[in-house]
Amino acid sequence: MAISPPEQRIWWNEPIHKVDLGWIVIVFLWGLFMFFFMIAWHFIGNQNLSTETYRIQPDAYVEKVEAFAERYQVGEEDGVPVVRPPAGEDVYLLARLWEFWPILELKKGQSYRIHLSSADWMHGFSLQPTNINISIHPGYEHVITLTPTDTGEFGIICNEYCGIGHHTMTGRIRVTE
Ligand code: CUA
Repeated sequence: MAISPPEQRIWWNEPIHKVDLGWIVIVFLWGLFMFFFMIAWHFIGNQNLSTETYRIQPDAYVEKVEAFAERYQVGEEDGVPVVRPPAGEDVYLLARLWEFWPILELKKGQSYRIHLSSADWMHGFSLQPTNINISIHPGYEHVITLTPTDTGEFGIICNEYCGIGHHTMTGRIRVTE
């Protein structure tokens, strides 16, 4: 059947059918339930990280990351330092156009305080293939506690559009025994 105009010209003023009204009420209540259940996901869903956030100047953050990388550097790959901080240490990672810097080597089962910030624009930190996903803003230093539970190489991708090189913006975290 072709799309034709409704028979009643004033179609939008018809009373709502009981079944439709029922569905609207169900959906509304479900939406409300899910909204308040967000708090529960935080505790039982194992999904989002609790982050601490501090104000910081982007330049000051870049200096912190550089000092950290220099202190614990163990190698270099494609011009990017490979950094192996001691277990339990504060770890600094920088997002900037268009890379995550430096490459991190962490130990399985150890907890690290990962500091994240941006030197320039807004970026996304998405750790693959796990469900860790946060936005990184210049001027804000995020701190997340991370305890790797698996060994291997994990990719970081930027998932906030940040310009012409966005799709090339990647990083690496390596987890060893
Ligand atoms: Cu950084 Cu997209």
